[in-house]
Amino acid sequence: MSCSPVHVQLISTKVSYMSLKSCPLPHPMFTGRTDIIQQMHMFFSTGHKRLSYVIYGVGGSGKSQTAYKFINEAQHPPEGQPRFSQVFFIDVTSKETCDADWKSIALSANVDASAEDAVKWLSEQKNDWIVIFNNADDPALDLYPYIPKCHHGNLIFTTRNPSLNVHASSTNGCLHLPMLLPEDALSLFWKASGNFDLDKEAAVQLLKVNLLNFVYVLQLISTKELGHHALAIGQAGTFIRQQHLEVKTYLALYHQKADQAVLLTHKDQQSTDDYKYAVFPTFDLSFEQLTPLAIKFIQIFAFFHHSNISPHIFQKAYDGRLELTTVNNEEKQNLLAAQDFLDQFTSPSPSPSSSFHLLKCTAVFTQLCSYSLLLFDVANNSYYLHPLVHEWAVTKMEDNVITSTQILAEHLLGLSAADTSIADVAYQRSLVPHLQPVLRGHTLMTTNNLALTLRSLGKFAEAEQMQRELLQKRQEILGPDHPETLITMHNLGETLHTLEKFAEAEQMQRELLQKRQEILGPDHPHTLISMNHLANTLDSLGKSDEAQEIRAQLDALKNLMSTG
Ligand SMILES: Nc1ncnc2c1ncn2[C@@H]1O[C@H](COP(=O)(O)OP(=O)(O)O)[C@@H](O)[C@H]1O
Ligand SMILES: [Mg+2]
Repeated sequence: MSCSPVHVQLISTKVSYMSLKSCPLPHPMFTGRTDIIQQMHMFFSTGHKRLSYVIYGVGGSGKSQTAYKFINEAQHPPEGQPRFSQVFFIDVTSKETCDADWKSIALSANVDASAEDAVKWLSEQKNDWIVIFNNADDPALDLYPYIPKCHHGNLIFTTRNPSLNVHASSTNGCLHLPMLLPEDALSLFWKASGNFDLDKEAAVQLLKVNLLNFVYVLQLISTKELGHHALAIGQAGTFIRQQHLEVKTYLALYHQKADQAVLLTHKDQQSTDDYKYAVFPTFDLSFEQLTPLAIKFIQIFAFFHHSNISPHIFQKAYDGRLELTTVNNEEKQNLLAAQDFLDQFTSPSPSPSSSFHLLKCTAVFTQLCSYSLLLFDVANNSYYLHPLVHEWAVTKMEDNVITSTQILAEHLLGLSAADTSIADVAYQRSLVPHLQPVLRGHTLMTTNNLALTLRSLGKFAEAEQMQRELLQKRQEILGPDHPETLITMHNLGETLHTLEKFAEAEQMQRELLQKRQEILGPDHPHTLISMNHLANTLDSLGKSDEAQEIRAQLDALKNLMSTG
């Protein structure tokens, strides 16, 4: 903004409220947030001169609504004076809306001045005003010029961008808005689906009468489905009421991907407030501003579990390249695609000796966080997506890239699980939720790594099931004598032994030994390992004579090799 020596001195300090944009009222169905609003009242009553409060979080979670509700309560207390002398409301969706709203503040003070002059004018008003910077969702818009430079006055920011917490006047003034409490989510759903006048207890009571319906409602609003997300719950309830649907039917539709996208994109023609978007379109607003690399990450995350995501997955995947054994052609293509992807993070450019540049990767995470498409989980020191953002991510791909992105995601996970050393058990544990759905996927390498990961975590039954499927696939695709097929037989034999399924282990290990003797030769290290394992299994079966015989052969072979 250019600075002109305006008539700030001449301006009347009387504000003409006619031309001022007022803070909207909270939604007629506003529900919950009691504790948070209580905290805000306390925060703004501490007597400090400049108080500044930042509410950040996922789009549609209720940040603006919480601010409206607070202002409404603060300005209309049951008794006493309004908390603030004036309330100024600025729409910070874009620079244009922000400038326009500041200009209208200038106008209301009877002067035709720029936004900058209006900011300056307000900084000179000594009374106890508050400015609400609403929807400061564009990380590229620098808010600093719009903040009155003085030591008094109050500010509230609502934003998707956690980085705006630099504007909070203390750590108490920084709120990551959580999803609704389960009971508030239930209460909102109940109102939206047509029961406006019931209070919370009565609503719960009524739902309990129809217990089955109650169960479906609880499922619909739960963390796994609508995730206690205020906008999603309000709109689902309204839809159910208008279409005269049963909750069960809505839930069944919701579980079909195509219908789910329609439901979460639907917005009723008749508005109940000034919020313009349905759930998915509200996320689309942020998507449109992402860089291509951040878009690719969001698409990849669609095939990860929605929590426990970390840049280390990509770093480990990069390191995992080195652990690879022989692969068939199709796998090779997929692995090359995964490596190409990872090479974007090498420093300074890809080469055999280059290393993974973690900061390049975390920068993408930070970008996604600035739109609250990705959230940071302090307790687990990892990132997560709200379940609705996770569902939405799948819809942000053209049909022709869905499969390739899924294969890429699976290979990245597979590579990152390649290091199965016990030392990394904690990391492996964090990978299991991501790898589980891969069972239904395409990637043999990932399945192999997952099976080994499960085994090192002591989940032998799951590992057995996975290794059986893998063996069958490898026999079909690679053939019964391929080295990878033989390695799978070896791994499965081991797992069966651990599970004390000795008879089946014996059968598998005999077959494997025979193949290795024929294909690799009697003195190949893999053949010797197989002999040793078979001998152990025979011991467990009480066939110690044969076990001894094999061990004697083994010793003879070893002697021969050391002397030869
Ligand atoms: N506490 C709430 N009670 C009822 N509805 C809510 C609540 N919070 C949000 N909503 C609904 O979600 C919509 C979006 O809320 P808003 O506060 O604008 O989200 P954002 O977090 O993006 O600022 C509102 O228009 C309203 O319909
Ligand atoms: Mg908002």
